[in-house]
Amino acid sequence: MSFIDEIKAKAKADKKRIVLPETMDKRTFEAAEKILKEGIADLILIGTPEAIAENGKGFDLTGATIVDPFNDPNKQKYIDKFVELRAKKGVTPESAKEQMEKDYMYYACLMCKCGDADGVVSGACHSTGNTIRPALQLLKTKKGVRSVSGFFLMEVPNCTMGEHGLFVFADCAVNVDFDSAKLAEIAALSAESFRNFVGAEPKVAMLSYSTKGSAKHDDVTKVADAVKIAHEQYPDIKLDGELQLDAAIVPEVAALKAPGSEVAGHANTLVFPSLEAGNIGYKLVQRLAKANAYGPVLQGLAYPVNDLSRGCYADDIVGVVAMTAVQAQMA
Ligand code: ACO
Repeated sequence: MSFIDEIKAKAKADKKRIVLPETMDKRTFEAAEKILKEGIADLILIGTPEAIAENGKGFDLTGATIVDPFNDPNKQKYIDKFVELRAKKGVTPESAKEQMEKDYMYYACLMCKCGDADGVVSGACHSTGNTIRPALQLLKTKKGVRSVSGFFLMEVPNCTMGEHGLFVFADCAVNVDFDSAKLAEIAALSAESFRNFVGAEPKVAMLSYSTKGSAKHDDVTKVADAVKIAHEQYPDIKLDGELQLDAAIVPEVAALKAPGSEVAGHANTLVFPSLEAGNIGYKLVQRLAKANAYGPVLQGLAYPVNDLSRGCYADDIVGVVAMTAVQAQMA
């Protein structure tokens, strides 16, 4: 069974309520029909009756819950919650209402916060920043987590490296700037994500252009310091670095560059030293190795909210909804 078929089977076993707020996009409806037909999740679509009728024309949405953000009996509850959470940031009942009607992502996050939904998937027609920001503002991090980060589950065809071609790559999506402590936290969250989604032991490589001190630079020291912090704070995680990519995943190179490492040559969870490296790295593997790239999946958020690429297909939305539902099962 492929990775995504296993995730769909898990999602079906304990169905969760997932919100799709992008009813202005036809791909949402194409995906919704498939999700409902396959029984992957219970869906909540946020949109006006006019938008649903126009964009959902011809799709079978039987079983979906439609929430009209202009005529929803629960709306005042969400406005009150928004104000409760953000009054200190200047949010008033009027501005809360306006924001929720203008940007349904806020509406969707408030539904989660009030216990009326289990997760959100958006981003087919909104930028990553605009998709993530409402979740960061309203839902916040899980207890004990400093920063939310974003990973891709990479499924590389005909590949013996990683876990039979499966890898977690992080952070590919969120943090524009990070220090060693944040990098160590990304490593720990990524190890947990690998275990939760792949069901195998994570082996985490902290990537650099240097292996074990072969180059000297502040950027290398940042990664080496992150390794020290991670070893201290998460002693149970198999983690090593700093490692070049080839030393991390190719056993023959690891034997030369990092002999004796229990991770080098066998890494399945790759932590990149910057957002540039992570974002470019996943796209290279996706395009050149024709890998499936599932994500970006957010880790460290208090509720499962996930982003889509604006170039996504309806099937990508179906896959991310299944992953979000599985995260909701684990919440
Ligand atoms: N973890 C937890 N909370 C965070 C994080 C984080 N990583 N980043 C920001 N926040 C919180 C802030 O504390 C703040 O909370 P507050 O309003 O309660 O004080 C809130 O989120 C907003 O923070 P700002 O710094 O004002 O957020 P901003 O909107 O400037 O940026 C964002 C946050 C959107 C995540 C930004 O860092 C960003 O745009 N990142 C890059 C996204 C991107 O473009 N990725 C690449 C494309 S993805 C792809 O290719 C698949």
